[in-house]
Amino acid sequence: MPTQKDQERYENDPIDGLRRAIVGDWAPEKHLRLRRYVDITWGVRRKFGGNATYIDLYCGPGRARIRNTQTIVEGSAVVAATEAARHVPFREIIIGDLDPVNVQACQKRLERVGAHQVKAYAGTADEVAATIVPKLHPTGLNLAFLDPFNLEALPFSVIQTLALAPRMDLLIHVSIMDLQRNVRSMMKSGKLDRFAPGWQSHVNSAATNPTLVMSVFAHWRSLLKGLGYLVSDNIERVRGVRNQPLYWLVLASRHELADDLWSEISHVEPQMRMLL
Ligand SMILES: C[S@@+](CC[C@H](N)C(=O)[O-])C[C@H]1O[C@@H](n2cnc3c(N)ncnc32)[C@H](O)[C@@H]1O
Repeated sequence: MPTQKDQERYENDPIDGLRRAIVGDWAPEKHLRLRRYVDITWGVRRKFGGNATYIDLYCGPGRARIRNTQTIVEGSAVVAATEAARHVPFREIIIGDLDPVNVQACQKRLERVGAHQVKAYAGTADEVAATIVPKLHPTGLNLAFLDPFNLEALPFSVIQTLALAPRMDLLIHVSIMDLQRNVRSMMKSGKLDRFAPGWQSHVNSAATNPTLVMSVFAHWRSLLKGLGYLVSDNIERVRGVRNQPLYWLVLASRHELADDLWSEISHVEPQMRMLL
């Protein structure tokens, strides 16, 4: 039985009969960044002889309609696969999602756009990361897109597991809205421990909400740095139609070139630079 939340989030796609998501009008913005990053890194994939894997651990059903409009957009995995195919396709595409209906729909849509070697897993990002990382090609290049609904679904352990692969670039959606609304309750409930372990030694819990949010985010970035990642200063802050901050898109890589390429395609808010 679909839950109330499912009914708000999904509908049937009359074109192919599969599930599609209903998303906010900010979703295309993150796809645009993903698309551009996949595009601008085609030369790097070529350098690896095309031995490149795209990993999407929160893949969704692979297609969406923008809420209150008739605009249809492809999902992140389909966007990444079709963009890569224009120059140097990914050798392998790995998708995962907690919801098996999403995984099946996304897999079918990927196959329909001609993606080869699609491996699909239903499970939490933690479980899927633990399953796939030991099987990745030892000298391959990997790009993982992490796009959860909220921070509860993004435990740092997912990143730690992915980071076991030597060449694993990460493009991560961090929900500012979630952090702003829930940072205090996440502290009390222990959920913040999963997202940003060790925050207690780096965050003054008596600080104002905006300071708390920024210090949790700074601590989370330092955890990434602890795994050997260069975390781009070019954090993309995506805003909603009422100009409210919605999410950050963070690129983390162990290679400076990735940061340079990201800088070329991202618009940095000067305001954000000052805060970081
Ligand atoms: C924002 S949607 C992903 C949208 C997709 N990346 C796109 O752009 O087309 C988040 C997805 O995460 C899934 N999800 C929720 N909790 C999860 C978890 N712990 N592990 C993996 N997937 C999860 C949801 O079922 C949902 O499909």
